Amino acid sequence: MKPLVALNWKMYRSAAQEIAAARQLVELGNYPATLAVFPSFLSLYSITEQLKGSAIELGAQDCAMAAPGAYTGQVAAQSLVELGCRWCIIGHSERRMYLGETDELVVAKVNQALAARLQPIVCVGETAQERAAGVTLAVVEKMLEPVQGKVGLCIAYEPVWAINSGTTPTAQELERALGHIRKIMGAECRVIYGGSISGATASILKEVPSCQGALVGKASLDVQELKKILESMSN
Ligand code: PGA
Repeated sequence: MKPLVALNWKMYRSAAQEIAAARQLVELGNYPATLAVFPSFLSLYSITEQLKGSAIELGAQDCAMAAPGAYTGQVAAQSLVELGCRWCIIGHSERRMYLGETDELVVAKVNQALAARLQPIVCVGETAQERAAGVTLAVVEKMLEPVQGKVGLCIAYEPVWAINSGTTPTAQELERALGHIRKIMGAECRVIYGGSISGATASILKEVPSCQGALVGKASLDVQELKKILESMSN
């Protein structure tokens, strides 16, 4: 399996800036990794056109928890597929934190995504307090419970304290968490890591046998950083 490098652009840029940045991505060329970009909903339509003929895949940062109907402001998984999305991030800690997304909502979104043949990337991970209390594996296990047994998921281990902090867990800590996730979810589930992966930190992933890719936030905005990440993940 080629490693997955998923670029989570969050809400860092305007739609016009995202469209300009997608042009640079296409010029990156080919790497022995699956590269997928997750812009805001607004620029999906334009970026899907830009990516035509390139190997870069498209994903969304969220999807609705229900099939099309009376849900103001939501975007149905089916619409995302029609726009060319193959992937969808679900349950990112920033959504859990700022929008109160619960495990129940996460599983409803996963069900919608799977029904539409959109591959969910479900984010799980502990807070700094939970890490200090030594309950990382228990927290991850509880977050996975509602999606356990579902086929076709990718799980991103994203410790809340590591996101946008400049620090990552050690390779040993990562292997322990990712290995545990694989044991719970089964061998065909892809498991990736996210949280402060940059040109300087990406090489740690080579020391984590259970890791099959990265979810990259801030560093994915800088093409030079991205090149370094891709290089260190493919060596
Ligand atoms: P970061 O974000 O790389 O900026 O830490 C990762 C994520 O939140 O997906």
